[in-house]
Amino acid sequence: MFIKELRLPTIPVELEYQIWELVNATPVGYQWITVNSNLKDWCNQNICPSTHWGVQLIKLDLPLHRDAASQVKINYLLDTGGDAVTNFYDNDKLIDTVICKPRTWYIMKTDQLHEVLNITGTRVSLAGKVFP
Ligand SMILES: [Fe+2]
Repeated sequence: MFIKELRLPTIPVELEYQIWELVNATPVGYQWITVNSNLKDWCNQNICPSTHWGVQLIKLDLPLHRDAASQVKINYLLDTGGDAVTNFYDNDKLIDTVICKPRTWYIMKTDQLHEVLNITGTRVSLAGKVFP
């Protein structure tokens, strides 16, 4: 098991609005946008303390990779960017596959080989690097 759904609270509407403000102010392409103090404080109090929080924007499929800057990430999608699928591999063998639901928290092992395919829109998530 390399990704697991978490039963944690949804993000309040007023904070979600602040995420969209960040998204709309950012050029296209893969982006990691460090969140403002409102989002950081809420996430550290309600989701996971001592975590580096950012908004991730993904507009293209992510080929097989290991995250360079994290070992474990928490992720909460505001927009899935289409029917995108996340696959985890052990060497060449597919070992886990998931279609992440919007407004649901997940924890995932990002130093495991993984890919995100079938992105047709903009995939927007609030993400926390638990173990950077
Ligand atoms: Fe990744």
